[in-house]
Amino acid sequence: MIKEVAEKIREKGKVVAFTGAGISQASGIPPFRGEKGLWENYSPALYASLPGIISLYLLRPHSLSKFFLEILNTIGEAKPNPAHEVLSRWEKKGLLKGIITQNIDNLHRLAGNKNIAELHGNIYYLRCPACHRKIKISEDTLQEIKELLEKGGRRELARIYSLLTPLCKCGRKQRLWVVFFGESLPQEEWDKAVKMLEEAETVLFLGTSGTVEPARSLPFTVRKEGALWIEINPTPTYFSSLVDYYLKGKVEEILPEIDRCLKK
Ligand code: APR
Repeated sequence: MIKEVAEKIREKGKVVAFTGAGISQASGIPPFRGEKGLWENYSPALYASLPGIISLYLLRPHSLSKFFLEILNTIGEAKPNPAHEVLSRWEKKGLLKGIITQNIDNLHRLAGNKNIAELHGNIYYLRCPACHRKIKISEDTLQEIKELLEKGGRRELARIYSLLTPLCKCGRKQRLWVVFFGESLPQEEWDKAVKMLEEAETVLFLGTSGTVEPARSLPFTVRKEGALWIEINPTPTYFSSLVDYYLKGKVEEILPEIDRCLKK
């Protein structure tokens, strides 16, 4: 089946990857759902929504700090894995046109991909809600944030808030570029993703459960006539019965196998 899929990809070309937490599993970042998922230990209604975060800031600042520190440390230690590396090589050789990701972990950028629509943001960036300018958080600021989170009180969290909300050139306050539950997705990233899908001949669904709207509906709203859909995931998902090929397994193993077949 892998050989056949590789042949189809060769025929069709113009690949766009739609990625989720599963592609970062082999890099040591846990998924959100399922066994050992982040949401097993932390309620997303509290830890991933602005009203929840404000309640935690007021009532349980140490729990909130522990959560953010865990995320920053886990993502900070992660390196791109063989699946990220294949996507980077494919972009360099012109086979991959872009990546639409729900991940905030920066690993596609670290792997070297350039054309990425980050639907849920990127934890290392601030974004201006008015003019959409993005700036990378400096290493010094990141270090200071980690030290403040280790102390974990309300005063420290208030200092972190001020570090993450500098004035933008346009006069509005920037904020951490992470889309929390209940918030709209960044329009410019959505538009970039739509453009990729309008041109895609092949769409790869890699390591996403397809449970979160509006991201999961995006590929259906913009499906190019005749585009080939392929999914790689060890567990069947919302997409599995809708794709042309469902490859059951780990993306960090199957994608390099496809890559090897393409080289032959
Ligand atoms: N290779 C491929 N897929 C894998 C692997 C792997 N090695 N390991 C796990 N998976 C799959 C799981 O089977 C599951 O379908 O990755 C998927 C991860 O699903 P979720 O944890 O729901 O992550 P995701 O789909 O990215 O979540 C979407 O939900 O909580 C929000 O904002 C958060 O961006 C996130 C969004």
